[in-house]
Parts: sequence; C-alpha cells; structure tokens
Amino acid sequence: MNKLKMGIIGTGGIAQARHIPSYLKLQDKVEIVAVYDINQPLAETVAEKFQIPYVFDNYHDLLVKVDAVTICTPNKFHAEISIAALEAGVHVLCEKPMAMNAEEGKLMIEAARKANKLLSIAYHYRFLENTTVAKQASLEIGDPLVTRVQALRRRKVPGWGVFTNKELQGGGSLIDFGCHLLDLSLWLLDEPEPLEVTGTSYNRLSKLPNQVNDWGSFDSETFEVDDHVTAYIKFSDYSSLLFECSWAANIKEDYVNVSISGVDGGLNVFPYETYQPKNGKMTTTTAADLDENHENAGYLQAKNFVESCLGEAELISKPEQALKVTKIIDAIYKSSETGESVRL
Ligand SMILES: NC(=O)c1ccc[n+]([C@@H]2O[C@H](COP(=O)([O-])OP(=O)(O)OC[C@H]3O[C@@H](n4cnc5c(N)ncnc54)[C@H](O)[C@@H]3O)[C@@H](O)[C@H]2O)c1
Repeated sequence: MNKLKMGIIGTGGIAQARHIPSYLKLQDKVEIVAVYDINQPLAETVAEKFQIPYVFDNYHDLLVKVDAVTICTPNKFHAEISIAALEAGVHVLCEKPMAMNAEEGKLMIEAARKANKLLSIAYHYRFLENTTVAKQASLEIGDPLVTRVQALRRRKVPGWGVFTNKELQGGGSLIDFGCHLLDLSLWLLDEPEPLEVTGTSYNRLSKLPNQVNDWGSFDSETFEVDDHVTAYIKFSDYSSLLFECSWAANIKEDYVNVSISGVDGGLNVFPYETYQPKNGKMTTTTAADLDENHENAGYLQAKNFVESCLGEAELISKPEQALKVTKIIDAIYKSSETGESVRL
C-alpha cells in the first residue's frame, strides 16, 4: 500500500508535541516528508530532530511534494494556507480554530468542495475517552434541554507564542480555548442549529500590569484579546446553551466541563457520568478508568485523518461542523461589541 505523504506547515509547539509524534506512530500508513516554517532555522532543527527529509523556504514548493498537510501556524494563516493546499490537490488537517472568522471558513469549505479533497479541523477533544463514551450516552438522554459549558483556566494565559495578539489570532480565550468545548458540546448535541447568540467578552484583568499567571508572563500593554467570555445560545430545537470560558479566572481551580440535561436523563463529560430515573429514583452511572490523555486523543485524531485520506475511514471532525463553531464565535464577539443579541 502507498503511504500518505504528509507535510507539516508551522513547526512550533503543537506540531512538535502532538502532530509529528502522532504521525511517527502511524508509520505503516503515513510518512512525514517535508516541513515549512517562516522561522527557517526552527524548521531545519525540527526536520533534523524527527528525521524529516525536506525543508522548504515557502509552502507552495512543499505542496507539490505531499498528499496531505497539517497546518500549525497562528490562526491568521489557517485559511490562506488551507485554501492554497486544497487548490494544489492536497488534503488538509488544520489546527483549531478553523479560521479568523466564518467568511474565511466558508472559503475553505468551498475550496475543499471544488478540489474534492478532505478538510478537517483539529478539534481533538472529540477523541478523548470521556467524550467518546459520552457521545454514545448522548443517544440515551432524550431531547436535550439545557447544556452548560465551562472552559475555565485559573490564571493561565499562554505566555508563549502570539496568543495575546488579536491581529494574528483573532481573539483570546474564546477563539483559542472555548472553541474546543463549543465544538465538543455541539457534537454531543448532534449539531443543533444556533438561532440566537448573546455574549460578553472582557479583557480588564489582563490589562492590569504584573498579573500573577501560571503559564509564563505576558505584556499587559500589548494584550488585545479576551480573557473572560460568557454567552447564551438558543437553538432552533428550543434547547439552550450556557457558556463560560476564561484564561485567567479568579476561581478555586481549572474547571472544564460539558453537562447536558435532557428529557430522559443527563450527561456530564468531565468526569463522565450519566443521570437517569430508574425504578422510581434518580441513578448516577460512571465508567471506570477513562483516560483524559490529550496526546492519545491527538494520536487518534491523526489516525482518523490519515485513514480518511486513504479512504479507510470517515472523518470525525467535519469542516461544516467547525464552521458552525466559528459562526457562534463571531456572533459572541459581535454581540459583545454591539451590546445586542445576534440572530444567525
Ligand atoms: N488543538 C490544540 O489543543 C492546540 C494547542 C496548541 C495550539 N493549537 C493551535 O495550533 C496553532 C499553532 O500554535 P502553537 O502553540 O504551535 O504556536 P507556536 O507559536 O508554538 O508555533 C507556531 C509556528 O508557526 C510559525 N509560523 C508563523 N507564521 C507562519 C506562516 N505564515 N507560515 C508558516 N509558519 C508560520 C511560527 O514561526 C511558529 O514556529 C494555533 O492555531 C493554535 O491555536 C492547538
């Protein structure tokens, strides 16, 4: 069998920690043949470290050598590079968020459709063990009523990279971290259509100099993005979602969860539990030994993408689903700016 030829564009933190090691574990199906990063010395170091044969000084030349690429650049370049890759006939796994906004996301989907190539967004939370069993259990809780989503980090603004730069990332805690939990909740809810979004975003805390921060330091003067966000989303099936995310919350500890209360029962993802009436009383069930290992989830994501490119599997993270997340993110930011609800 011919192996899939993979290129990596952007060879920083997530490429080295997650994507490259995952593809190396799938060596019977995929071979990393080339890398590109605007920081050429970094690309060369990474190629040497992982024994990747080609280093290019532009991504167009790389696209000629590969069947698929994994895009791990700052968010601003996701759409441009994805579209160029698809137009060159190359499948794309692009890091989350899909793009800076939904307009870009639509163009990416259009390019994938025209080229008849795969486009997937790296929403790896779908591949955690908890979320995999939760997806099965979601079939048993009946119509969803109210979903609560929290993506809360206690004082952990990423102090590296460009995460606090609005021009390069498009936003902060919501577009970077909240997006994962929004994607996960929509997937568990079986992709309801959002009707109306109300949101508020804040960056007051991160504007104060010398903040205590557990993930390195950041410059409050150049911090341009949200550090806290809240939102309320109504869907066309009359269910609703209460959303909170933060990089810098003043709370007891980090708290990440999705919980759904449905007509026949309820579901909690972290930790995994279900709640159902049985024999006249409410019961709670759990599943033992679920592994919340994000690197393993990254491996399963890589496996699904590679196997989908080879025609052996169906993509789990589809671009139309990522576009819905992006539309909601746009609407939350717009609602916060205008002070009005946004109808979608
Ligand atoms: N799925 C996750 O949980 C997760 C975790 C971390 C980061 N990410 C995403 O991955 C992306 C990269 O994040 P990171 O943490 O690796 O950042 P990083 O800063 O460590 O790496 C980004 C790399 O992209 C390179 N780069 C910048 N502009 C480029 C361009 N135009 N063309 C080619 N290379 C370019 C930089 O030189 C750098 O090496 C972001 O979109 C981020 O949201 C996802």
